[in-house]
Amino acid sequence: MGAYFGVSTIFVFCLLGFSANAELFTIGAPSGSDITQALLKAFTSACQSPTASRVVIPKGEFKLGEIELRGPCKAPIEITMKGTVKADGNTNHGKEKWVVFGNINGFKLNGGGVFDGEGNAAWRVNNCHKTFECKKLPISIRFDFLVNAEVRDISSIDAKNFHMNVLGAKNMTMDNIKITAPEDSPNTDGIHLGRSDGVKILNSVISTGDDCISVGDGMKNLHVEKVVCGPGHGISVGSLGRYGHEQDVTGIKVINCTLQETDNGLRIKTWPSAACSTTASDIHFEDIILKNVNNPILIDQEYCPWNQCNKKKASTIKLANISFKKIRGTSGNKDAVKLLCSRGYPCQSVEIGDINIKYSGADGPATFQCSNVSPKLLGTQSPKACSAPVTKA
Ligand SMILES: *[C@@H]1O[C@H](CO)[C@@H](O)[C@H](O)[C@H]1NC(C)=O
Ligand SMILES: *[C@@H]1O[C@H](CO)[C@@H](O)[C@H](O)[C@H]1NC(C)=O
Ligand SMILES: *[C@@H]1O[C@H](CO)[C@@H](O)[C@H](O)[C@H]1NC(C)=O
Repeated sequence: MGAYFGVSTIFVFCLLGFSANAELFTIGAPSGSDITQALLKAFTSACQSPTASRVVIPKGEFKLGEIELRGPCKAPIEITMKGTVKADGNTNHGKEKWVVFGNINGFKLNGGGVFDGEGNAAWRVNNCHKTFECKKLPISIRFDFLVNAEVRDISSIDAKNFHMNVLGAKNMTMDNIKITAPEDSPNTDGIHLGRSDGVKILNSVISTGDDCISVGDGMKNLHVEKVVCGPGHGISVGSLGRYGHEQDVTGIKVINCTLQETDNGLRIKTWPSAACSTTASDIHFEDIILKNVNNPILIDQEYCPWNQCNKKKASTIKLANISFKKIRGTSGNKDAVKLLCSRGYPCQSVEIGDINIKYSGADGPATFQCSNVSPKLLGTQSPKACSAPVTKA
């Protein structure tokens, strides 16, 4: 069991750009020990501090059990994690989370540390991608209801389920995040976001078994820039419409990203027999490099994995004001561009500009299909746009 020292030490952090007189709480524990209780204690004290405070997890490798670090706190908190924290290597069936940072205004997490989810045993029992009825596995890091937050220089490896989940954030920046898990690890989305407003994901590298970034319902104003994704299932908005009570998605921008060896590239997916009727609008992808990506550009309003829905019903999710511009590179299959919109609600205002996607397989060349959409074409398209007939509802 770790102890923690230095509760009353007052440090001046001017050189680090941190406000003066921040209170410092350092976890003092030998490498290999379990710091769950020590971290909870340090955080609780820091949260009570009337001035800005900082919790430091030093270099080393520590065990960390399920933990919730929640405010509200009296002043901003910075957590500097220099070492590696490791989760329990058992399956943790039925648990929904490992580490939670929640309900804090003025939150920083940084330090170059690593969250190791030890997911190997759990991946073998995960069936949530195949059925509605499955036992949950813990998400590695949950960021719940953070305001004015910054997560920087942090790695996540081998999550049992999603690596990071952002819910209810307002004004949050994630910069230089590194996410790694094997290509065949199920449901290990890199960063999933929903019901948040004003999140940036910058300069990050995500290699995992599911979506690199997935955008859930209620997401507003997401800016993704300079993210390298792969292997993984690409960057996706959705799936939307699986559950009732969903909220609109709007203001999604993905620019200057690279996708390499991913299954799907840039994707918007909605379930056909949607349980709700929402709108996803103002979604823009620009300056994207593709390296051997399957299904590089895909709007799929008949998303129905494992036949968990009625494909005969048209999706009731409305898609509008969407653009794909300056997207270039190589496809791993012939389906370079597929815009499959809902029969019930054809996509509105879709712009396609300067697409240059090559496919060199024997069943080529690359194709560009559209249904229930008449995209506005700008610049040049290769392959030629909408080689299949445009059908109307
Ligand atoms: C957003 O959060 C950052 C801290 O991460 C802060 O510096 C900035 O002032 C906030 N912006 C607004 C508009 O509140
Ligand atoms: C992508 O980066 C290039 C080079 O820095 C820049 O010129 C371009 O404007 C960026 N694209 C977007 C959409 O911002
Ligand atoms: C699409 O953009 C136009 C022009 O900016 C705007 O008037 C319209 O409300 C937008 N549609 C949706 C569904 O957001």
